[in-house]
Amino acid sequence: MSNILDAFKEKQAEARVYTGKKIKVGIIGCGWIAEAHLKSYLKCEDVEVVAFADIVPGKAEAFAKANGVENANFYLSDKELIDNEKDIDAVSICTYNRQHAPCAIYALEHGVHVLLEKPMCVTLEEAVEICKAEKKSGKILSIGFQPRFDENMKMVKKICESGVLGKIYYIQTGGGRRMGIPTPFGTSFIQEDTAGLGALGDIGCYSLDMVLNAIGYPKPLTVTGFKAGLFGKKPEYLQKPEYTEVFGVDDFAAAYIRLEGDIVLDFRIAWAMHCDTPGDTIIMGTEGGLRIPSTECWNGSIGGPMTIYHNIAGECVETVIPECSNDGDNFDKKIRSFIDAIEFNLPSPVPSSQIIYNQAIIDGIARSSDAGKEVVIEIPEI
Ligand SMILES: NC(=O)c1ccc[n+]([C@@H]2O[C@H](COP(=O)([O-])OP(=O)(O)OC[C@H]3O[C@@H](n4cnc5c(N)ncnc54)[C@H](O)[C@@H]3O)[C@@H](O)[C@H]2O)c1
Repeated sequence: MSNILDAFKEKQAEARVYTGKKIKVGIIGCGWIAEAHLKSYLKCEDVEVVAFADIVPGKAEAFAKANGVENANFYLSDKELIDNEKDIDAVSICTYNRQHAPCAIYALEHGVHVLLEKPMCVTLEEAVEICKAEKKSGKILSIGFQPRFDENMKMVKKICESGVLGKIYYIQTGGGRRMGIPTPFGTSFIQEDTAGLGALGDIGCYSLDMVLNAIGYPKPLTVTGFKAGLFGKKPEYLQKPEYTEVFGVDDFAAAYIRLEGDIVLDFRIAWAMHCDTPGDTIIMGTEGGLRIPSTECWNGSIGGPMTIYHNIAGECVETVIPECSNDGDNFDKKIRSFIDAIEFNLPSPVPSSQIIYNQAIIDGIARSSDAGKEVVIEIPEI
């Protein structure tokens, strides 16, 4: 029996009419996460993945073959791909962090839309250069935060925006893993010259995005931060004992951040620790407090029903928000939203104007840790 609500859904679905034109996409960096990008692109009828690049000889070809792609062009660098694929529309940048900025800037400078994996890059200076290239190009730049598309994440934002928490003044966020230094696919996450950032850039950026997006990305003002590599030299924490020799990033970071609007943000992140969790995410307001349960292995997803603590008629009460179910895969939605933004001239789904603040905090934590004192965040005019 047809439901009256279906009529509304159909109406919404009709809103976008596809032209039949295929968006030509290239994938830069053919490692672990590239597979998720490719699989999601292959589900889009209006996308043709035409080129692959990886600096390791043969890796791009092997990657495409393993994923059933026969007809494509292969290159040994991002530049080679961009220079040769004259009619390419967009690229997914799936390189390790240190190559995010150069690849994104080169693609944007050559008029190509960019889906850039998280973290946006390594330093604030790089983020500023990326934003300048984006502005000059007028192309879409979206940063790869797929948790944004999760219904529970959307609920966090809806709760904050509803006003039920009153004036938000304090946030605690972060996450951790007891033994979760990511080395199953080699050492690109733990080397300074490839990753540049450890837990901070890998999973810290998710925690920051969850809460900052929920409250409208206020500008960060100052940071007192600490970061250290405390477990990466212990062989039992890595896939192979010899990986200790190249470990050169943080596996723990903590910070106290002042945000515009008299909000303080208390943050901690760990790839490894002697504890089950460094704490749930808590968003405190003058009318209510929201607790978002952490997960055992923090990767940007929510670990169970959320609770709002408030006061009704003088009594302390709690409202449990049931977990929302997701219709479809968040990664597919990240790719689809990028393609839709290109095809229908929509705003960037995860815009750099927000994520530059995320990067500024990460950069501030690193600078403050090095300086041993609080630092001011200054973001130049783009
Ligand atoms: N969104 C997510 O869920 C998610 C999950 C994992 C990783 N990531 C992010 O994706 C990025 C890549 O992670 P990964 O695990 O796939 O790393 P990886 O080391 O497995 O793959 C990176 C690949 O990029 C290649 N490369 C580097 N520079 C290049 C260049 N200039 N041109 C072409 N190829 C180049 C490397 O040779 C390597 O094959 C990281 O920034 C990471 O933070 C995101």
